[in-house]
Amino acid sequence: MGKIANKAKKLRLSAAKFLKIVPERQKKIENAGAGDVKPLRDYKPNALAAELHPQVQYVKITDVRQLAPDVKLIRLSPDKDKNCFRLAPFAPGQCVSVEVVIEGVSHERPYSVSSSPLEGYYEIIVKREPEGLVSGFIHDNWSVGTEARVSGPFGEFSYNPLRDARHVIGVAGGIGITPMRSMIKAIRDGFSDHTLTLLYGVRTEEDIVLRDELDEAAGTPGISVVYVLSGDRSRNDLPDTAESPDRKDGFEHGFIDAELIRKYAPENEPYSVFAAGPDAMYRFLDGELPKLSLRKKFIRFDFRGEPADPEKYSEYQAAREEQGCAQNPGIFRITVRQGGNIFAAECPHNVTIMKALEYAGMIIPSRCRSGECGYCHTRVISGKYFTAPDRDGRRKADTIYNYVHPCVTFPLSDMEIELGGGTRGSGK
Ligand code: FES
Repeated sequence: MGKIANKAKKLRLSAAKFLKIVPERQKKIENAGAGDVKPLRDYKPNALAAELHPQVQYVKITDVRQLAPDVKLIRLSPDKDKNCFRLAPFAPGQCVSVEVVIEGVSHERPYSVSSSPLEGYYEIIVKREPEGLVSGFIHDNWSVGTEARVSGPFGEFSYNPLRDARHVIGVAGGIGITPMRSMIKAIRDGFSDHTLTLLYGVRTEEDIVLRDELDEAAGTPGISVVYVLSGDRSRNDLPDTAESPDRKDGFEHGFIDAELIRKYAPENEPYSVFAAGPDAMYRFLDGELPKLSLRKKFIRFDFRGEPADPEKYSEYQAAREEQGCAQNPGIFRITVRQGGNIFAAECPHNVTIMKALEYAGMIIPSRCRSGECGYCHTRVISGKYFTAPDRDGRRKADTIYNYVHPCVTFPLSDMEIELGGGTRGSGK
């Protein structure tokens, strides 16, 4: 009784009241009708979790700005008509997955959030890609008032004081300026406590977007911006004279390489490199960044996006030969089991399994579409395949037990797969 009295005292209850807690709770459980049970989502912790990590958020377009002939800045605000009063918080550099429905088929694509976490809306920058189904649809159909659905924010491409150096060299190529803009705004607004030197690479001066904003930000303590004009040439291929017509005052020239990064890096303090841009820039940096001898954790890449063509990987042909698929690249049949249903789709050898299934009208869970988040984690029942090695974010157990990420996987033969058979989020 002494122990019970002590516990009751701690809870500021009388011992008699304390002893009644369990029997009373039991009685309530026994007497409760189905109608007395609150839905799980109404319990405070669940409601908070849903607010912080929503699967879906309803938004309305409240502003569209044409930044360049093929680039638009689009503001997504909470759609109060759909009971969305506040958007989930995000860390600068994170993405949301945007859903569009084209001819009855749902397609999702990740877009980095470009606004400040303190602005109350998400801004995304959409470049019309030459064969971009979703980017083209957004450019042609979204205007102020359009309603849309986006996922909760996700991704690891954001500053973390426990992992990253306090000074960040941001390397942005083209549209990769999007997450950097969010980081700049976050520093300006006092949300983020790090400094940033942005090396913003474009082909010509005319390709710089948001220049006024960036020039203004460059006056903020802790932020500097350097424009780098490549003209599609590396620094070594440029004439090394200040008088050359290829050189403009106030700009750096050529590709952003290790030498240029070193030039702007702090001399006596550690720094992180955050890179966001097109695939060609990532591949170039894969060769350059090792020259800086940085610790691995100080190099951060944004999502690499979907792999375009498996043939560009030197490992592809070897994988085909190793798996006995050297002949007859062509169109393969993908049989899909989902729940109790079976579907089938055709998949050309150079199209990812995810894209082929989407074109066939199936809804495949996706977020990053870069092999990293694990959201599309899928079990292979039979068949041979090739996963893009620079986007293979599977855990070792996944490779042993034959799980793949269809967003970065190409068939090497007919295949049978099981969607939704594993847990989501298996990636790194
Ligand atoms: S969608 Fe992220 S791993 Fe496939």
